[in-house]
Amino acid sequence: MDQKELFLREEGDAYFKRNRSTHGSHDGSAVPEDLRYVYHVLDPFRSRMGRILEVGCSNGLKLEALCRNFEASGMGIDPSAMAIEDGKTRPGASHLDLRVGTGDDLPCDPASFDLVYLAFCLYLTDRPLLLKTVAEADRVLKPGGFLAITDFDPGTRYRKPYSHLEGAFSYKQDYTQTFLECGQYYLAGKHCYSHRFPRFDEDADERVATAILYKDPDAYPAWR
Ligand SMILES: C[S@@+](CC[C@H](N)C(=O)[O-])C[C@H]1O[C@@H](n2cnc3c(N)ncnc32)[C@H](O)[C@@H]1O
Repeated sequence: MDQKELFLREEGDAYFKRNRSTHGSHDGSAVPEDLRYVYHVLDPFRSRMGRILEVGCSNGLKLEALCRNFEASGMGIDPSAMAIEDGKTRPGASHLDLRVGTGDDLPCDPASFDLVYLAFCLYLTDRPLLLKTVAEADRVLKPGGFLAITDFDPGTRYRKPYSHLEGAFSYKQDYTQTFLECGQYYLAGKHCYSHRFPRFDEDADERVATAILYKDPDAYPAWR
């Protein structure tokens, strides 16, 4: 069975149950490092942040904070029915459009979001679905919009067994490269820190980065 099916059937819910205590609420004093950086880079563009999508949103806690910060409307996709149900009933998240699904098949119109956020989702994506997931994020993001990616960023590329489920893997690599190499995205900023603390980590396996990419509406100016 592929990882997509495993997350839809059981591991999405299992992840949510394991992490429920930290997915209750963010108090203002403890803004997660990824959101702190997204706010920092995108604050000058806040008037353009009308619609935000988070892929792999769990119960939508980060999406809720993003939408509150940018005064935007939000949609979130996650394979965990339990997390989505929790998000729908959480006070403060009732305005969010939360749905069960996966990143390779988004129930969204083309060019319909100003910000697409992929936070710790690509490292869990089946390799045969990686480019489809990348293409879906690109499809639904408006030209002139922003793509944010937070994921493990060891500086090399490797897989390791996913500790919570036999037969599943964590795939660690710099996912911004897939978007940047096509020439239609510009790296607006990248913040390197650690899964363990908010600063650079010498242990490559713990390294994390939040990157903000700009989808250039005019990546191919006419040759003259
Ligand atoms: C480590 S959690 C991250 C949750 C949240 N984005 C955050 O940063 O706190 C990974 C989430 O991705 C979801 N997920 C796993 N595979 C996915 C896929 N193929 N598409 C979308 N979400 C997926 C899991 O159910 C889980 O909620």
